[in-house]
Amino acid sequence: MQNKFFEGKDFNNKFKALIPKYYPLEYKNYVEEEKKLIINKVKGSNKILEAGVGIGRIIPFIAPKVKLFVGIDNANLMLEESKQISKKYKNVEIKKIDIEKLDKNYLKDYFDYSLCIWNTLGNVKDEVKVLTQLSKVTSKEIIITVYKKGTIEKRINWYNTVGIEIKKINKKDEIFYTKSGLKSKSYNLDDIKKIAKQANLKIKTHKILSNVILYIELSKEWTWQLNVINVKSQL
Ligand SMILES: C[S@@+](CC[C@H](N)C(=O)[O-])C[C@H]1O[C@@H](n2cnc3c(N)ncnc32)[C@H](O)[C@@H]1O
Repeated sequence: MQNKFFEGKDFNNKFKALIPKYYPLEYKNYVEEEKKLIINKVKGSNKILEAGVGIGRIIPFIAPKVKLFVGIDNANLMLEESKQISKKYKNVEIKKIDIEKLDKNYLKDYFDYSLCIWNTLGNVKDEVKVLTQLSKVTSKEIIITVYKKGTIEKRINWYNTVGIEIKKINKKDEIFYTKSGLKSKSYNLDDIKKIAKQANLKIKTHKILSNVILYIELSKEWTWQLNVINVKSQL
């Protein structure tokens, strides 16, 4: 069901929902802030993963800053677009892989950083499973951006602007369902804390971007525990 959306049902409008030039100002500002934060974090790194690479929106900004950029997605239509973009770069690989099966495809800690941005987490079936998989293949940090709770009206305007048809809104939990079967959740920091904890991750840093999006850096819980043990053993 969910795949129909990213397989083109809502993308007759030339992927407007993933192309910043069509965005309202708040979303334009969000993608600009996100870009700067991510570049600052990952520049000079060896291997970066984007889980749910979509049409490859961020490839031109991140690929030149790292040794290897791997983008994975499970929607053919998205992969066609990102593969086109990737042709311009020697260090970009685009693959059809389900995020839930990352550990079958990559070794433990293969990537320095993993990105799961533009609310990809809010589209998946099981966020804990997805974060657990990302944690397995990532050595340093997982960077996520998700819709912030408290922005229903802005989201309605946004979907109207980019031509996405909404079937139902769960106003209490701020979850949108599109006619073509996409589920898109929103989160507050506590929601993410709970999901992260279940995946054995902790929030390292967070920031609200343009009042519409939560930017969060996650790292493994055990890294912190080991640090505490190290400090204690030095006392
Ligand atoms: C909201 S889009 C974000 C695209 C891109 N990250 C961006 O920032 O423009 C979410 C993407 O994640 C992909 N996706 C969702 N669930 C997935 C899964 N389980 N495995 C792989 N890709 C998935 C979708 O096909 C879609 O391209």
